[in-house]
Amino acid sequence: MKRISWLAFPTLSLSVWASPAKRATWNPPSNLVQPLTQVWNHEVATYNMNFKNFGYDQLIAAKGTAKVCVRWESTTQTVTEAQRAQVQTAIQRSYKKWIDWFVGFDGFPYSSVPLSVVGWAVSNPSLLQGSTSGIDVYTNRDSGGIPECNPACGRFFHQDNNYSGCPGGAARHYDFSVWLTPGFGGGAGGDWGARIGTEYFMSNLNTENIHILLHELGHYFALDDFYDWTPTGVTNFIMLAGSATQITDFDGWMARDWWRHLKSRYGIAKEGANSLEIEGSQAANLTWVDQEF
Ligand SMILES: *[C@@H]1O[C@H](CO)[C@@H](O)[C@H](O)[C@H]1NC(C)=O
Ligand SMILES: *[C@@H]1O[C@H](CO)[C@@H](O)[C@H](O)[C@H]1NC(C)=O
Ligand SMILES: [Zn+2]
Repeated sequence: MKRISWLAFPTLSLSVWASPAKRATWNPPSNLVQPLTQVWNHEVATYNMNFKNFGYDQLIAAKGTAKVCVRWESTTQTVTEAQRAQVQTAIQRSYKKWIDWFVGFDGFPYSSVPLSVVGWAVSNPSLLQGSTSGIDVYTNRDSGGIPECNPACGRFFHQDNNYSGCPGGAARHYDFSVWLTPGFGGGAGGDWGARIGTEYFMSNLNTENIHILLHELGHYFALDDFYDWTPTGVTNFIMLAGSATQITDFDGWMARDWWRHLKSRYGIAKEGANSLEIEGSQAANLTWVDQEF
């Protein structure tokens, strides 16, 4: 399998990544039509698109909101209250850069998707300095002993939205996790959330485009990697790891294409239709792993 080296790609001029044009229907720039068709065909040939826990499924189930739980894997590093606020702002900013492509497009039923960090998982609550009021502090561990947010409250583990085992019930559930691992190079992303390096993220909290997080959130919205092939005529975009540091028009139109193809499962065939309940499949998950950027 051929790996694409990011060193091979020079940075393009800023004009390539205009903010999302508010086009109400499928009408991508003509130069993107062929590569978009190639990418969608490759996606349906590669993945089971009947999967019911894509980011789209989650935000519809949560009625246009997104709740995040942070997994803080470091056992020694403390986090101040101010840093936690910055973490939330950084995740909000990054998530919104994808959502902006959906708002106003092809029956997307929300004008915004407000995101909040509702919980933190830590090895020891003393790592969280200052007040933790308003968030759930979890000390659960996954099978590998790594702090995780209470599975009983997590959408990944309860795709039927039954949070009866969650101490705070559905109101205190979380939709996905942002998992911060010390010394972690590259990233991983999928329907369960995003995993990136603690140092990378914490030193980029005020960076406008936290590009590895943007890429992993692309996976949350079921966008694919491009380590083994590239579509015709597009060489710089966030899902081609290392080739872009911002969500480009091509990335945005890919995401719109996924929405366009998946929206019928929400009963959004035409404008104004009601959404449907989504039946989940508990065992499945979709994960992409990135070695480098
Ligand atoms: C929700 O899950 C609990 C177990 O956690 C189960 O006892 C209950 O029957 C479930 N409710 C529904 C409506 O499926
Ligand atoms: C997803 O499934 C794979 C294979 O079954 C497993 O190795 C992986 O740990 C799972 N990921 C999560 C986040 O549960
Ligand atoms: Zn990737």
